[in-house]
Order: sequence, then C-alpha cells, then structure tokens
Amino acid sequence: MKRYPKESNHSQNSLRKTAYKSQNKILVLGDIHANYPALKAVEQYIGPNRFDWIINTGDLIVYGPFPNETIQWFRDRGNSVCILGNTDRKVLRISGGKKLKKPRKKEKRVMYFWTSRALFPENLAYLKTLPEQTSLTAGDVSIGIFHGTFQDPDELLLPSFPESRFQQLAEDSPYQIQVMGNSHVPYYKIVKHVHFINPGSVGRMFDGDNRASFAVLRISRGEIAVEHFRIPYPVEEVVEGLKKHRLPDIYSKMFRMGKKLN
Ligand SMILES: [Fe+2]
Repeated sequence: MKRYPKESNHSQNSLRKTAYKSQNKILVLGDIHANYPALKAVEQYIGPNRFDWIINTGDLIVYGPFPNETIQWFRDRGNSVCILGNTDRKVLRISGGKKLKKPRKKEKRVMYFWTSRALFPENLAYLKTLPEQTSLTAGDVSIGIFHGTFQDPDELLLPSFPESRFQQLAEDSPYQIQVMGNSHVPYYKIVKHVHFINPGSVGRMFDGDNRASFAVLRISRGEIAVEHFRIPYPVEEVVEGLKKHRLPDIYSKMFRMGKKLN
C-alpha cells in the first residue's frame, strides 16, 4: 500500500513560503549527496544571491564526504526550501538508534553509518526539522516539492514512464508545478497543464557524465520557463575527501565516472 505523506509536520508552517512578486527566479537543486565541491561549483556558476528561492528536492547527504558543509550551506540561506530524501531519512533512522535493514551492500552501509557519525549535532538537528514534502507559492503559481512524488516519497518517476502516470499525478494534485528528485534524471514535461521538473542530481549523476546537474525556474506573470544546466566541478576534491576518511574506493570511481556502480 502506498504511503501518502502528509505535508503538515511541525516544521511545515515555517517552510511554507509565499512570494507575491510578479517575477520569481528559483534555483532548483536536488540529490546533492554531500558533494559540496559540486554545490560550490553551481553557486559560482550562477552567481550569488540571484534567486528568490533555492529549492532542494532531498538526498542532501550520504555517498559524498561533505555532509556538514552541504547542510550548512542550506542553513546559511534564509531563502532555501529543503525536504528530506530517502538517504536523509535513513541517516535520521540510524541517529534515532533504529536498525537499518536496507541497503544491504556493505559499502553502502559504511557510507550511511559514517555520515551518521560525522554529522555535527546542529546539522542533525536541522535535518530533523525538514518535512518529506512541502510547497511554495510564487506569484499565483503553486509549486509542490517532493523527493519521489506527492503520493510516494520513494517513487522513482522517470521521464520514460507512461503518460498515464503523469496524467494521474496532474489530476490528483493541486500544484501547477511539481518539482521532484530521486531519479537523478533531469527532465521537464508538461502534462495536463501541470509542469513536472526534475533538476537531475547536483552531486551524483548516473548517466556517465560526471558534471553537476541543476535547473533554473522562472515564473513571470504566470508564464513558466525552465532551463537545465550541466557544469563541471572539481571531482578530485571529492575523491580526496573520501580517501581522507578511508571511505570505500568504489565511490571514488563512481564520482569520477558519473555512474552508479553498486
Ligand atoms: Fe538521490
């Protein structure tokens, strides 16, 4: 049975944002996976303070060696709108003293447990405040922000999925724009007047191109425009970070190749 996560948790009211400007420019990030060098490269590429909002679609941490730097970057920005992804939720489980059944692969478990131990208390506290999904209103346009979909935070919604799935999501949700992560596949589709945006992964693309992926969303008097970007970042800084903490070698290969090898 599918889970239908509620928007209303204790942090939700503080995260529901409304911007009444006629024009809104929104930076859309997701699946950063503790790859701080990639996040910094995005920041340097797009320039500082140019956005009304910075959306993060979840999976802030795990698999990269910079969980604290990554979380701190969002904590420092009052215009950021963050949600939890599946990797973030697993770290919260470990930190709460619960068992982790999945993943079973040893190298993955090493990354989850290392991340949980490495997190500073203030960053863990921040993670605990994040909801599984949230929303934003820019002008008159409503934006739903999910890791998977609004019906299932773990759904891996690929652009190749049947049109009927997108139609169902369009009909069953009040949002004009649905922003999602989780698949690490960048795309933009309009189905039944609903705009579906996945920015791809800032920190861990799987398509053999190791560059960071993200999107910029512009809303001007009801007009919606989406642009995707792929930019290079210093991958070797991630490799050095992995080595410094004696984390599994397979992740150095994955970050260098831009591929999922496990
Ligand atoms: Fe992810």
